[in-house]
Amino acid sequence: MHDALQKELATYEKRTPKSAAAHKRALERIPLGVASNYRHYEPYPIFVKDGKAARIHDIDGNEYIDHNLCFGALMAGHCHPAVVKAVKQKLDEGTTFGMPHEQEWELAEEICKRYPVDMVRFGSSGTEVTMHACRIARAATNRDKILKFEGSYHGLHDTALVSVKPKEEDWGDPEAPNSVPGGGGIPKAAIANVVVAAFNNLKSVERRFKENPDQIAAIILEPILMNVGLCLPQPGFLQGLRDLCDKYGALLIFDEVKTGAKLAWGGASDFFGVKPDMICLAKSIGGGLPLGAFGASRSVMDLIAQHKVFHGGTYNTNRVAMAAGLATFREVLTREAYAHTDKLSKKLTEGYRAIVKKSGLQAYIASAGVNGALMLYPQEIKNYRDWTKIDVDLWRHYWFAMVNRGVLAQPYWWDEQWTISVQHTDADIDKHLSVFEEVAPALAQAQQQRGAAFVGAAGH
Ligand SMILES: Cc1ncc(COP(=O)(O)O)c(C=O)c1O
Repeated sequence: MHDALQKELATYEKRTPKSAAAHKRALERIPLGVASNYRHYEPYPIFVKDGKAARIHDIDGNEYIDHNLCFGALMAGHCHPAVVKAVKQKLDEGTTFGMPHEQEWELAEEICKRYPVDMVRFGSSGTEVTMHACRIARAATNRDKILKFEGSYHGLHDTALVSVKPKEEDWGDPEAPNSVPGGGGIPKAAIANVVVAAFNNLKSVERRFKENPDQIAAIILEPILMNVGLCLPQPGFLQGLRDLCDKYGALLIFDEVKTGAKLAWGGASDFFGVKPDMICLAKSIGGGLPLGAFGASRSVMDLIAQHKVFHGGTYNTNRVAMAAGLATFREVLTREAYAHTDKLSKKLTEGYRAIVKKSGLQAYIASAGVNGALMLYPQEIKNYRDWTKIDVDLWRHYWFAMVNRGVLAQPYWWDEQWTISVQHTDADIDKHLSVFEEVAPALAQAQQQRGAAFVGAAGH
């Protein structure tokens, strides 16, 4: 570990003793001391006290400009007044009934207005909706296999948790990657039904269709790979997938859990002009409440109506999350709001680019919609394997240095990205940039001293 990182870690520990103590106590009862593995990092995570608009406080009283925003689930920002008002009202009217209500149709209408689907069902998380989408695709095609991309994340069900962060010794041929389970407990039969291809590589995808004739039900993908920082589809890649799905009789599922709200008003299909067969939504559509949705054409969704595929869930369309979702679509994620966040996103991205250039840091800034990331690579990454060639300690240096100066630049982990909320202001972006300007020269210096020898750490 280089000196500058050590210094930042010492400062972090000095600023956050209550988080250290809270984590120590939590470790006694909760594995890793956190409720999701993604929330754990060394030496210990920041424990949060509260948040309002674009800022949060930790339990030590430190304030941060928040670009973590619950791993991108809060484009609304914290406590958006429209969401709070809608939720409060439902708290007084009853939260959950397990009965149909009129908000279901209303939110389905909002979704069908923005995204190219005819019908919608709801859930409470991204994991849930990608799971149902995969099952429906299997039923619609009478095929068992799902094609996913190496390094993509679609949640925690058995089909999704394959080749998310495979290690080099396991990953195999770059054109025909091995299906590597993301931990224990995933049945071999489930893994055998997941075929993996390389992102941005249509040859690899077509090869998989040829190797598995009439067996692949669907391709599921994040239109922008956001489990490796931020990796854009190369021109023609998404259309190429559309064409391959048509050619081989498979469905194209866009996992828009991240892009659906945050890329643009109409999500990735609108932004890239490619129409998938199914979409999955979650995170920012709920304004901070747990809400997911999946949708498709009438003929695909009719499989549910015909009782050919089962879908249910006790908490589906609970009134609080639905009220938050409606307020989010109608009052938060408006076209005016996208104009505001686009402006901030441009300012942050261009500001970072100028600072990177001035500092001599070998890096680039990837940006799409309200998401962006400092990518510590000499050139643009195209897939998961490119992403693994990162100097992790240099990235940690960046993250802790920003945190120590009051900017949560993104969630911890170098596979994530920043989110800008509708409640961020020009002043927040100015502060973010001034902190990065202070940090960048030390990063550039450390990078020069460490050299390429330290590059090559794989995923977590
Ligand atoms: C693209 C994508 N799909 C699915 C999921 C899973 O969503 P959830 O954590 O709500 O289950 C995530 C979560 O980060 C995601 O980024």
